[in-house]
Amino acid sequence: MIDIHSHVLCGVDDGSQSIEESVKMLRAAKEIGFDKIIATPHVMRAGYDKDKLKDAFSAVSAEAKKIGIELFQGYEYNCYALNDDGIEGALKFCTEGTNTILLEFKSTVGFPANWESIVMNLQREGAQIIIAHPERYPQVQTNIERIVRSVELGCRLQLDGLSLEEPGFMNKTRKCAKKLLESGMISYVASDAHSESDYLAFGEIVKKISDPRFFNAGRSDEYSSL
Ligand SMILES: [Fe+2]
Repeated sequence: MIDIHSHVLCGVDDGSQSIEESVKMLRAAKEIGFDKIIATPHVMRAGYDKDKLKDAFSAVSAEAKKIGIELFQGYEYNCYALNDDGIEGALKFCTEGTNTILLEFKSTVGFPANWESIVMNLQREGAQIIIAHPERYPQVQTNIERIVRSVELGCRLQLDGLSLEEPGFMNKTRKCAKKLLESGMISYVASDAHSESDYLAFGEIVKKISDPRFFNAGRSDEYSSL
């Protein structure tokens, strides 16, 4: 089982802040049944610290190996970073060994006006696109039909498992996550874990969810080479 979205690397974003926390996250992930994790730190603008990321990856990867998890370097690439990187620069942020980009839009704004041309320009250069947590974007929360166009364009959709249990009677993210899962458009359910407690909560959701579509998610083949 592969977790395609995780902030398990320490000291590089708002995820794990120490190697100890990363180890706790890895143990909790293993307990759920993950044996592969794509580490996806946020990339929001150009000029991030590549050396720091490399060091974090080798330290956490070594710990993962001891626990029986294979770690791959990926990124959660924010579409606003394209302003700095351009299409060519963005292609450097494919998941290791693949041509797949985990693309994120700003949660508060959602899809920018030019999102279709962003997607098509990346695809023209050979990238496959997975859209991170569509349930968090306001346009999709208002109307899940808004995400259909991206699927028609060939994008895959990744749901955050934790969105399915987000608290609050009228929680829009939770409602949208459930609708999306029911729609059959979700290709991946991932943890998007930022801490050990996120993995523990994800584990509880995995135990509880009886919807077979949750478990069928992941049928896409972007990561079959990993
Ligand atoms: Fe994330």
